[in-house]
Amino acid sequence: MSTSPLMELTDIHKSFGNVNALRGVSISINRGECHCLLGDNGAGKSTLIKIMSGVHQPTAGQVNINGKPTVMQGPREAIDSGIATVYQDLALIPLMSVSRNFWLGRELTKKIGPIAVMDFDKCNSILMSEMEKIGIQLRDPSQSIGTLSGGERQTVAIARAVFFGAEILILDEPTSALGVYQTANVLKTVEKVREKGVAVVFISHNVSHALAVGDKFTVLSRGETLGTALAGEINYEELQFMMSGNKELSALKNSK
Ligand SMILES: Nc1ncnc2c1ncn2[C@@H]1O[C@H](COP(=O)(O)OP(=O)(O)OP(=O)(O)O)[C@@H](O)[C@H]1O
Ligand SMILES: [Mg+2]
Repeated sequence: MSTSPLMELTDIHKSFGNVNALRGVSISINRGECHCLLGDNGAGKSTLIKIMSGVHQPTAGQVNINGKPTVMQGPREAIDSGIATVYQDLALIPLMSVSRNFWLGRELTKKIGPIAVMDFDKCNSILMSEMEKIGIQLRDPSQSIGTLSGGERQTVAIARAVFFGAEILILDEPTSALGVYQTANVLKTVEKVREKGVAVVFISHNVSHALAVGDKFTVLSRGETLGTALAGEINYEELQFMMSGNKELSALKNSK
């Protein structure tokens, strides 16, 4: 059983009314591997990861988790199966401290008399050491998360998911709103997470960002898979070409 992929989606279809967002997509995610999902706007990337994270149910097709056919009724079931998703518009609360955001809903408590209160010292020291492991020097665990840069916020969300046991970490366009320096930090974080044996599903429009971290690349186009390639088997130009679609590129050339 240990050799089966952590997650395997086979011949997935998803329709919204008469829009066919996915038309027979298959993908498998293995332990410790960074699998990049590339594709142009509307290709079906977000729809596919929403199926992986239990937000949508497929119209047809099979989802296996650890080799077992699984029907997820909602995001809670995905989280309980070790599948964590960090969305670009992070569900963090800007005015609350980094520490409160990290522990949100799972705070460690201590008793003061009969009352359980959040054990700030313990929570803060675990947070600081988790962030340090991932290469981020937090100035102060009580600073509000709104004062962190976009890249640092992504990193806190990633560290949180890993600390609470994610086996598959899905990142939806984690670098799309970031500058060069912050992008480098997030890509480094992805690398660290992968080294721990966590599988990463990395959605991106940006071929260079994907090439910097990916072991595998799957390109979606209009709801179909154009194929999956291993790192080293495909280069920047080929991926870019697949993403932008043959037709558009030749049209561009003809117009010159
Ligand atoms: N809830 C929905 N209702 C109706 N149509 C939807 C819904 N979600 C997605 N779609 C449609 O499905 C197709 C794929 O959308 P999806 O969001 O998965 O693309 P994407 O690859 O994530 O694009 P982007 O790069 O712009 O984020 C699009 O045509 C979109 O309009
Ligand atoms: Mg999307």
